[in-house]
Amino acid sequence: MSTLAVYPGSFDPLTNGHVDIIERGARLFDRIIVAMLVNAEKSPMFTMAERVEIARAVFKNHPNVEIDTFDGLLVNYMQRRKANVIVRGLRAVSDFEYEMQMALMNRELEKAVETVFMMPAAQYSFISSRLIKEVFSLGGRVHGLVPDLVEKKLQEKQGVKI
Ligand code: PNS
Repeated sequence: MSTLAVYPGSFDPLTNGHVDIIERGARLFDRIIVAMLVNAEKSPMFTMAERVEIARAVFKNHPNVEIDTFDGLLVNYMQRRKANVIVRGLRAVSDFEYEMQMALMNRELEKAVETVFMMPAAQYSFISSRLIKEVFSLGGRVHGLVPDLVEKKLQEKQGVKI
């Protein structure tokens, strides 16, 4: 049986922590879909089209990584895509409570779906999209924390309020 995994999230923007988890997932599962939640935030920094374009460019050489968007309940999307594994990254103990709630709620909604937690490389354990946006918008350096393409797109948006 081939395993199709879904890595859901907002990805506003994609960070090197996300990239690390996706690469690990692509090695572990037959296929992994990076599923971007539409309308996750009221005022995202990157449009959905930009987020998809960035992720597709970053993973263009990974044939078993697919970039897609979804709306509504994750478990409904999983059913539509016939996927059985949700991948989530765990950076620190502080992530655990929220992640456990989501994993158990998703299991309550759909028993056939399993959530698998993966740890990113230690050098990415402090990165979040929220902090990247905050640090960059206040003039801080994010080089090495996000893919080069994201850094370039952030620079293009310089001056945009978050
Ligand atoms: O990267 P994020 O923003 O922490 O991802 C959160 C996400 C997208 C995984 C979560 O909000 C989600 O699955 N939303 C879809 C709606 C849904 O299914 N909600 C119930 C989850 S228990």
